[in-house]
Amino acid sequence: MNETLKLLHNHRSIRKFTREKLTKDEVRTIVEAGQRASTSSNVMAYSIIGVTDENIKKELRKVSGQPYVEKNGYLFVICADLSRIANLDSNGVQGNVKQNLESTEQFIVATVDGALVTQNMVIAAESLGFGACFLGSLRNDINRVDELLKLPAYVIPLFGLAVGHPNHEPDIKPRLPFEAVFHENTYDQAKHTHIEDYDRILSDYYQRRDSNLKDDNWSKQMLRKYNVPTRMDVAAYVQSKNMNRH
Ligand SMILES: Cc1cc2nc3c(=O)[nH]c(=O)nc-3n(C[C@H](O)[C@H](O)[C@H](O)COP(=O)(O)O)c2cc1C
Repeated sequence: MNETLKLLHNHRSIRKFTREKLTKDEVRTIVEAGQRASTSSNVMAYSIIGVTDENIKKELRKVSGQPYVEKNGYLFVICADLSRIANLDSNGVQGNVKQNLESTEQFIVATVDGALVTQNMVIAAESLGFGACFLGSLRNDINRVDELLKLPAYVIPLFGLAVGHPNHEPDIKPRLPFEAVFHENTYDQAKHTHIEDYDRILSDYYQRRDSNLKDDNWSKQMLRKYNVPTRMDVAAYVQSKNMNRH
């Protein structure tokens, strides 16, 4: 394996960090590497908010319920952002531009762009010896995050990203086998049978890993997860920001 592949295969989310903060240069290096990600039509439909204010971090932790939102080397919040386009025309947002900006298509563009920039940031951070964890838990109260970060129309928070010096070394979490996710030419539903293999692999992982041992598998987890209506306020919030309306 080359060094890039080794880095990718060594990924695990880090949720405990030392007290050491990232320097401004490290933050900049990570963000600029993130920005090298491909972006739909070069729109760059994202913004990254670095949260250094301890009060805002505390409030964001309350939203997420996860301590590492506050206790990390640096906290980023990644937003889908179409407001730059919205503000290009001094006459305001109207006509075709408005119709496009408010479409599901452009909502996908902006959320995908936000995910790509963030994943590049994770790889950059890991290459520098940092650990990182995405924080979708900020969407537990998306309206509160919007208020705390003073987001304008056409800007929505997607997730946070906690980065810092790792203070634990969790085991690498197995993924679905290649055979379960890779199809050739057309979609093959029979591939779902490989989920059984993964259930055994993940169950074994949960019973053998260093901490938080449990008797569980992927199918059970997903059924539990999808049985609970979650963040049902997000749709109305997104539409209130003039996105994903049609
Ligand atoms: C969009 C996104 C949101 C996530 N949100 C959270 C989160 O709120 N809290 C958390 O502890 N982990 C979060 N994670 C991390 C996942 O739980 C983790 O990536 C997954 O369980 C696989 O584990 P690994 O990253 O250690 O391989 C998130 C990951 C992604 C991609």
